[in-house]
Amino acid sequence: MSALLDNPVGALKKYVSFPSVSADSCFAEGVSGAREFASSCLRELGFEVEHVPTPIHPVIVATRGDPSWPGIVIYGHYDVQPPDPLNLWNSDPFEAVERNGRLYGRGAADNKGPQIVHMAALARALKKNPDLPLRITYLIEGEEEIGSPSFREFLEQGKDRLQGDFLLVSDTGSPGPEQLAITTGLRGLVALEVKVYGPKQDLHSGVHGGALLNPLQALVQACSSLHDAEGRVTVPGFYDAVTPPEQWEREELSRLPITESAYAEFLGTPSFFPPPGYSPLEAIRFCPTLEFNGLGGGYQGEGSKTVIPAEAFAKITCRLVPDQSAEDISEKVRSALQSAFPPSVRVEVEVKGGGDPYVILPPGKPGAPECTKPLMNRAFPLAEQCIEQCFGKRPLYLREGGSIPIIRDLKEIADLDSLMLGLFTNEDNLHAPDESFNLEIMNRAIDTFQAFFLGLAGD
Ligand code: BES
Ligand code: MN
Repeated sequence: MSALLDNPVGALKKYVSFPSVSADSCFAEGVSGAREFASSCLRELGFEVEHVPTPIHPVIVATRGDPSWPGIVIYGHYDVQPPDPLNLWNSDPFEAVERNGRLYGRGAADNKGPQIVHMAALARALKKNPDLPLRITYLIEGEEEIGSPSFREFLEQGKDRLQGDFLLVSDTGSPGPEQLAITTGLRGLVALEVKVYGPKQDLHSGVHGGALLNPLQALVQACSSLHDAEGRVTVPGFYDAVTPPEQWEREELSRLPITESAYAEFLGTPSFFPPPGYSPLEAIRFCPTLEFNGLGGGYQGEGSKTVIPAEAFAKITCRLVPDQSAEDISEKVRSALQSAFPPSVRVEVEVKGGGDPYVILPPGKPGAPECTKPLMNRAFPLAEQCIEQCFGKRPLYLREGGSIPIIRDLKEIADLDSLMLGLFTNEDNLHAPDESFNLEIMNRAIDTFQAFFLGLAGD
């Protein structure tokens, strides 16, 4: 009996049970357990599986089918975010349980559920046609949630084995089971850390206060200079390379079955603060951001403490949109930061890595370049048709706010564009307590991909 064929939810529960937190070396056993489990599923499907070593967690590369057949590459990641804060979960993050049509567990949606969807669909397609004339190469990495530090190197070494017309990805979102989305863009990312140093140690603020610049004060002044009062980023040149979306992309977005007020209520925010000229729903897809993710220094305990802290820090990330580049923006933000501090403190700005934004104009859409890859040209209309068949409605073509930096690397290094079908939703609580995967989406998506694989192979 095959779990993938007969019990995909059971297979997902098992996959979730391996705590594959890539960020924390205490979870090394869970990471290798998840890698082995994904590999065993692929072997069950007739794939030849290899683990390509990296400095951290190996990449699973698996292939089936004749190299002369038309080919596709399927991407996923077997690592997950840390489960913290644990006390906010209603069940054990690594013991998946079903409640109200959802499966709860860390990684259930990001990205283990969508991977099981692809595999279960493939199991069914291969049962119908064991000789399915489609060369499939799987690429499942274990470092996505820590920024894929080894992936570029892996790609440069191994790009020749990635034979295919396009990359299939389900690691993005959709509005809900009543409205699926094909993701046409991902934002890029730049991460920076600022450290500000003042006196050589914490000082009594009565004895020395007034004589020197408090590092925390210098930091918040510098940070607050990075936006204007309306929320625009003031870093010189920040918006220079930003390309506005195509008109059809704005129209597609206006079909989203979500109102601004429902979105505000879902977020529990008193109001929105998008940059001028953009609605909140446009801003998350079409605008770059500069965001403070953490700020610290000085006394954090109960009560007050009369102290001048010796140091302070801020963690900043920028989300980037086409055609901004991570290298260019990190340099611009670094230099804006450095010149925002007076010489009375010492400042270190460290760029912690990042990735470029990605956009795909599907073949046939206004503005889309000519595509010479036959499978790629067929894939978008076919996906649209399969989604309509199984979900009752054609998908929307939407850009997303999140980032998967390696998608752009795969385009640049291996010339693979991506067909991204979003399977998780806002309700899935990605990276947060009580992450879950919608089982109605799971089941319908398995049908969708079964039809998609059979259709791609010409059945
Ligand atoms: N699957 C997400 C990216 C995503 C989320 C795309 C929502 C579209 C919609 C991915 O696993 C992720 O969380 N990426 C990180 C970046 C990474 C470098 C840590 C992100 O976007 O913060
Ligand atoms: Mn993910």
